[in-house]
Amino acid sequence: MKRYVKYVKPYWKSFVLCPVLMLTEVLGEVLLPAFMADIINIGAVRHDIPYIMGMGIVMLVTALVMMAGGIGGAYFAARAAIGFAGDLRSDVFQKVQSFSFRNIDAFSTGSLVTRLTNDITQVQNVILIGLKLLLRAPGMLMGAVIMAFIMNPSLALILLIVIPALALAIGMVIKVAFPRFEIMQKKIDALNSRIQEALTNVRIIKSFVRGSFEEEKFAASNEDLKQSGLRAFRVVILNMPIMMLAMNVTTLAVVWTGGRQVLAGTMPIGDLTAFTTYIVQVLMSLMILAMVLLQSSRAVASLRRITEVLDTEVDLTDAYSARKDAVITKGTVEFRNVSFSYYKDNAEKVLSDISFKIEAGETVGIIGSTGCGKTSLVQLIPRLYDTDSGGVYIDGINVKDYSLRHLRDSVGMVLQKNVLFSGSIAENLRWGDESADQDTMEAAASAAQAAGFISSFPEGYETNLSQGGVNVSGGQKQRLCIARALLKRPKILILDDSTSAVDTATEAEIRKSFSGSLRETTKIIIAQRITSVMEADHIIVMEEGRISGMGSHEEMLAQCATYREIYESQMEKEAIA
Ligand code: UTP
Ligand code: MG
Repeated sequence: MKRYVKYVKPYWKSFVLCPVLMLTEVLGEVLLPAFMADIINIGAVRHDIPYIMGMGIVMLVTALVMMAGGIGGAYFAARAAIGFAGDLRSDVFQKVQSFSFRNIDAFSTGSLVTRLTNDITQVQNVILIGLKLLLRAPGMLMGAVIMAFIMNPSLALILLIVIPALALAIGMVIKVAFPRFEIMQKKIDALNSRIQEALTNVRIIKSFVRGSFEEEKFAASNEDLKQSGLRAFRVVILNMPIMMLAMNVTTLAVVWTGGRQVLAGTMPIGDLTAFTTYIVQVLMSLMILAMVLLQSSRAVASLRRITEVLDTEVDLTDAYSARKDAVITKGTVEFRNVSFSYYKDNAEKVLSDISFKIEAGETVGIIGSTGCGKTSLVQLIPRLYDTDSGGVYIDGINVKDYSLRHLRDSVGMVLQKNVLFSGSIAENLRWGDESADQDTMEAAASAAQAAGFISSFPEGYETNLSQGGVNVSGGQKQRLCIARALLKRPKILILDDSTSAVDTATEAEIRKSFSGSLRETTKIIIAQRITSVMEADHIIVMEEGRISGMGSHEEMLAQCATYREIYESQMEKEAIA
């Protein structure tokens, strides 16, 4: 709870002013019935018209003051709630940005989206309502109880039975509802994940004509949410009938006993109307308190989920080592007995006992069947994940000892699942280097063999890419991603299957330009086609998370049976084609 104080601080005036202003409403609510009683008892009974007029004006002024207080209160409540939620949201977002891949995997993106939107809105709503009623509801309750006792103590005794009974009923409703709200919030998570997956992959879904399948999955999640929502609200709606029943029974009891007192002449008639109003106010304020408590119980569930995000320990951060200022100058890469798995407690390793060394400026090809761990291996170099044991060294220094920023700036990586963002081509390329001028950008584009098709677009580098870069072809997209990585002028360049959609002739051009312009850069190239890596200084063949051979093309052909098999099968195919 303490951590949330800082979100109150900037808006503390609103947090204080709102409840205070709302007290004017309490004052009015308590006074108005008393004025009304006087009008009846004095004005009406004695036919004193000027008295009635005078009291009427007093009541009008009271009502105006109430209104002003109410408006002011609502204004400050909105300021406080919206300000609080806005600041909190931006902090949670920042925290999520600092998450490692592992952290994000643990939450799922859909759940993070729910927490950032729905959960924070839930909290905002409670602040909005809660601030307004913080003093008002208890104030109205107390005021009405006191007035009732002053007016007619014997009749007010009824309240001593009604209030505890109602409080008990409300307490029970909340106790049952709370866990149901928690479940409901989880279902919203699931639904959001579903929606997110379906929308991001709408093209694939359509191309596989899986629309109806997705609709069914969505319908199931939606139904699930509906049921859990109904389960929660079924309890909540009980609140209202319980209240109404209590209200009616109490009013009846008051009118019954009070009526007899009026007939006996022990109670003025005007007091009876005022008294019934106070009774209604007492019960109303109880009802309002119950609603606020219910809302709060929902918000507490949400707040807990937000706290979970804020409390998450980011498992991949800058290590506090003595070599923080270490810089990568050459680009040698060495793996020493590296083991790795995606889940901490997973006994089955994705990579086991990997050791090899690449000198600066060398080109290394990595080849192996799908799922053998190629992507996992290279991800360890820019620390997208950390090793379980063993270490990755660049220029002889463990990657954990570099600042993350410097490390990732020095390692250019074209991911297997690459993404372009909405915006112009130039904007996308400048992700690699914000300050790159047009010439540098064109040089990088031409090294990646992208300059040709970019200039064939009518708007050239200003061509707008829609979200995900869907208006360029697969091969064009890959080349743009390579250009983007090249603009970083990295010491180490990693291409993870990044030319799979590029034709062999263009690919050969890219290789040629690399050996010219990237002589100093260490290049690690993952490929399916042997022709893509044949000319590399070393070729690493991977099998089930282990290295089964490393050497030049000729050496590998002579030594490594797996390599020979892959080579021969690919050559055969080529011959047939
Ligand atoms: P990789 O993603 O490293 O394989 O996954 P790869 O060699 O690059 O495969 P292709 O050629 O791109 O298809 C290695 C293993 O790690 C597991 C998978 O089970 C896979 O067999 N894995 C991968 C995970 O558990 N989680 C992930 O996020 C990715
Ligand atoms: Mg891969």
